[in-house]
Amino acid sequence: MSRQILVTSALPYANGSIHLGHLVEYIQTDIWVRFQKMRGHDCRYMCADDTHGTAIMLRAEKEGITPETLIGRVWDEHTRDFAGFHIGFDHYYSTHSDENRALASKIYLALKDAGLIDVKTIAQLYDPVKNLFLPDRFIKGECPKCGALDQYGDNCEVCGATYSPTELKNPVSAVSGATPVHKDSEHYFFKLGACEAFLREWTTSGTLQAEAANKMQEWFAAGLNNWDISRDAPYFGFEIPGAPGKYFYVWLDAPVGYMASFAKYAADNGLDFNAWWGPESKTELVHFIGKDILYFHALFWPAMLKYSGHRLPTAVYAHGFLTVNGQKMSKSRGTFITAESYLAQKLNPEWLRYYYAAKLNGSMEDIDLNLDDFVARVNSDLVGKFINIASRTAGFIHKNFEGKLADGVANIELINDFQAAAGTIAAHYEARDYAKALREIMALADRANQYVADEKPWELAKKPEAVYRLHEVCTVALNCFRLLTLYLKPVLPKLAGEVEAFLDIPPLAWDDAQSLFIRHRINAYTHLMTRIDPKSIEAMVDANKQNLEPTPAPAPARHAEAQAHAAQPVSAAAAVADTISIDDFAKIDLRIARIANAEHVEGADKLLRLTLDLGELGTRQVFAGIKSAYAPEALVGRLTVMVANLAPRKMKFGMSEGMVLAASHPDGHKGDAPSLFILSPDSGAQPGMKVK
Ligand code: 2FM
Ligand code: ZN
Repeated sequence: MSRQILVTSALPYANGSIHLGHLVEYIQTDIWVRFQKMRGHDCRYMCADDTHGTAIMLRAEKEGITPETLIGRVWDEHTRDFAGFHIGFDHYYSTHSDENRALASKIYLALKDAGLIDVKTIAQLYDPVKNLFLPDRFIKGECPKCGALDQYGDNCEVCGATYSPTELKNPVSAVSGATPVHKDSEHYFFKLGACEAFLREWTTSGTLQAEAANKMQEWFAAGLNNWDISRDAPYFGFEIPGAPGKYFYVWLDAPVGYMASFAKYAADNGLDFNAWWGPESKTELVHFIGKDILYFHALFWPAMLKYSGHRLPTAVYAHGFLTVNGQKMSKSRGTFITAESYLAQKLNPEWLRYYYAAKLNGSMEDIDLNLDDFVARVNSDLVGKFINIASRTAGFIHKNFEGKLADGVANIELINDFQAAAGTIAAHYEARDYAKALREIMALADRANQYVADEKPWELAKKPEAVYRLHEVCTVALNCFRLLTLYLKPVLPKLAGEVEAFLDIPPLAWDDAQSLFIRHRINAYTHLMTRIDPKSIEAMVDANKQNLEPTPAPAPARHAEAQAHAAQPVSAAAAVADTISIDDFAKIDLRIARIANAEHVEGADKLLRLTLDLGELGTRQVFAGIKSAYAPEALVGRLTVMVANLAPRKMKFGMSEGMVLAASHPDGHKGDAPSLFILSPDSGAQPGMKVK
């Protein structure tokens, strides 16, 4: 019976690149979806970018662009990278969509009607310079337990203690360097505690892996806290209906993004939304996630669905993290490898798909990408075993039999065994135990290779009396090859397509495993897959080392909630930056500029638009964040110093073509004294002069 299945992978944040850690999940899900489709099921794969939150807002600000521009650019990058690894989403959307706003609001209002929303005033750390409540990862200070310096607001990387940011000693804002103050504000809470009875039952109903269900028991024992679902302005997200200035916390509307992605897809493809998401839906809803976000998917999300009148997930499948060469991915070792850099080395994406599949067993265990093993395994299994069967036999069919397979095969046992394996292999795919599926498939490949080695078609070809035997042996081998292709197709979709073209057959579906491949004309064999050259792996690792930034890097994108929201906090310490060479310094073209005009910018709190006269070099427009310290009229006519060769940046209000230099206290604003001082040369300096 055909099943209807809606499948999702977790929505990646729109402030970072896709890396090999992310790909574990998308490859795992994509294999499962492709397998279901090959089985003839009506399976739809939904995903989207997760676009909201403080980190994305600040990142956009830092780049001088709007959050909308940032998330648009990242959407292009993400979809390009996913396509590069053959991730076949049926729809890839964005959480910043009309559908998501409408659905998140509707769900929230339903929860409110059900009496599950509470409003409470809480005190939080606030950045008085940026006028912003600070998420935990944007606060640094001394660990309250061990005193280690420079620790984040949620946990200490030295002693492992967890705490609330208000407990940090000598906290500083990682955004501005200012000392945060305590500030009260009203927050909206989802009463998770009130959903406990339902959640206890649901989490033990077979929806979760056993390991995950056990984890749930620990969480129940610790007690379910009500969940803070609001954030104060400024925040990039959706304003809460009936609560001006309050926004849905990014994690409230993120999972709704699954639904919104489907809503848009359903509208575009004539599907009935309620048949898939309504309370009576008979379809399956399957979420693939990383084990770090189980709490959201096994507690908050089902409770939100249940009490807003929607269907519940059929299954939540969590996987483990990726390690590379046995260790956490590391920028300094070059093992924090982006999808883009992998593809840039012309490494075949199907090599990685195969390797991950060979490691994935449906559990929450971490998986290791050992780069030497990767090379050895792919070369041995895919090229040495699988492709080898065709490359050693197809040529004879072409040369000796005009490309036509034999009319029948006497030795049918081998093919029968291959066909009989379809059920077992399917069961492994269904259970996400791809490791077992591939072991089974490779054992068959070994048998096919043994058959070819025993029959020696290259010797048969030398004896005219063995021509029938040669035809039959090659036909048997190509039957095996076709079946192996079919079984590997969820993992290697592109290669399977190329084999289908070579064999001149329609796209293989699972049921085709039971047919015999005879009396058929095939195309000439052209080489299907090359070996991995270990040198390109080295080059990729080197390229990722070179990507290293001098400032502390953000936490890996797919970690615990708070970590995942980290953007790129500026260094909070009042220390002198790393030294640079005189050559580095010489790259900066500093010039004297006369401020020919200065004016307010409509809609900008901090910016002034300056027109800078550089003498013979012409004029430049620069947006400078100095409004808090200078009235525009006080600036006109002054000389200052500017960076004249900064790449122009497109800002919300226009192009900024340089930067004026100004001094500020590293800890931000102190008392009522001015906090910014633009630099001026001694009298006599002329616009356009070089500053050295
Ligand atoms: O952890 C993460 O990367 C989140 N962006 C996942 C969101 S999944 C879903 F709930 F939207
Ligand atoms: Zn500590």
